Parts: sequence; C-alpha cells; structure tokens
Amino acid sequence: KYQCALFDLDGVLVDTAKYHYLAWKELADQLGFDFTLQHNERLKGVSRMASLDILLEIGQMQDRFTEAEKEKLASEKNDRYVAYIHKMDASELLDGALELLHELRQRGIQIALGSASKNAPLILDRTGISSYFDAIVDGNSVSKAKPDPEVFKLGADKLNVPYRACAVFEDSQAGLEAAKAAEMLAIGIGEAGNLTQADIVYRNLKEIEVDKYF
Ligand code: G6P
Ligand code: MG
Repeated sequence: KYQCALFDLDGVLVDTAKYHYLAWKELADQLGFDFTLQHNERLKGVSRMASLDILLEIGQMQDRFTEAEKEKLASEKNDRYVAYIHKMDASELLDGALELLHELRQRGIQIALGSASKNAPLILDRTGISSYFDAIVDGNSVSKAKPDPEVFKLGADKLNVPYRACAVFEDSQAGLEAAKAAEMLAIGIGEAGNLTQADIVYRNLKEIEVDKYF
C-alpha cells in the first residue's frame, strides 16, 4: 500500500488548459498567426518558456525575438492567464477531485502537489483545496522540468516518505515518465491510448479504487 499521493494539478485536479489556450491564442492573434486547440495539446505539462518556444515555432517566428523579448511575451501571456484563473472557483475542480482528496485525508495519507505551474498556489486558493496539501512543489521550486523526476522526488522528500511508497496522479506522458523515473506508482488520468507510460489509467479521479492503493 502507498503512504503518499502526489498530484499533478493542471488536467488532473482542475481543467486550466482552456485558460492557457485562450491566453496563448490572444498572443498568437497579436503576433498574426493561427493557434488551434490541437496545437494547444502540445503545451500540456510543458513549462511556460518551453510553451512559448513551441508557440513561436508554430507561427514560424522562433528566431525573431531576443531572450528579453521572449520574457516579455511570456509575461504578457501570464497576465492574461492570471486574469482568467482569478475568476475560478470550486466548481472548476475536475470530477472526483474533492472526494478523493477528502478520502485520502480521512485515511491519513500524506498529500503533495507536483506541478510545473508557477501559478499553482493561486489555483489551489481559488478552488479552495490548499488545505488538503501537506507539501507543495510547483514551478517556483523546481529547476528541471518533467520528465525529470525532480518535482515528485522533492514532494516525497518534503513529506519524508520513500519514493517507492508514493503514488502519482498525472495526465501527461512526461509526468508519468517522471513518476516512473522516481520509482513511484504512475497512475494516468485520461485516455489509456495516449498514456502508454502509466502503470494503470483511469478516465477520471472518480474511478480511482482507493482501497487498492491506500
Ligand atoms: C502545467 C500546464 C502547462 C503550463 C505549465 C506552466 O504543466 O499543464 O500547460 O505551461 O504548467 O504553467 P505556468 O502557470 O507557470 O505558466
Ligand atoms: Mg497536467
């Protein structure tokens, strides 16, 4: 049985991809090219600056900006994104998220966040789930992006739990790979066909068999 649950945030607990999409699309519009929902799939789980690089590549503008200009573009995008997430509330938690957090808490399981987002604390606050987390590791505290296992290892270290005693909930391939690299159980949330790195895949958090793992 596992002593600790590590959660990715975007796409597992909340659906923020739509807001990332709107904010990136506004930037693409401003730069004069099309950015589709399909393009947006490539940005899931990817850090802010790496996402900008992919966006500029889609617009065939990758060589047009200096590092300082890119920082400015990313920060403009983030301002727009933050304006969207400021309006979020608990109704935007994904199916089963609140129930699972509650159930784990009841069982005395330690809970940590392992997210690439620098906005993670704001999102946890707006959706009212901050108090469920015994440790938070986010884009402000990691230097190596998933699939590097740093984000999950740091979470387990903060809780003083061995890596092998941790189960990770993730919706991205890179995140599942990170969990495996840390020798943790990798639970995929989404479509089994897309999540080949997972030890097991569930469509959403509502379907998790809590007794089986905790
Ligand atoms: C998560 C999301 C990505 C996002 C990244 C950084 O991994 O899935 O789409 O780019 O966090 O988010 P941030 O809020 O720091 O820009
Ligand atoms: Mg995710």
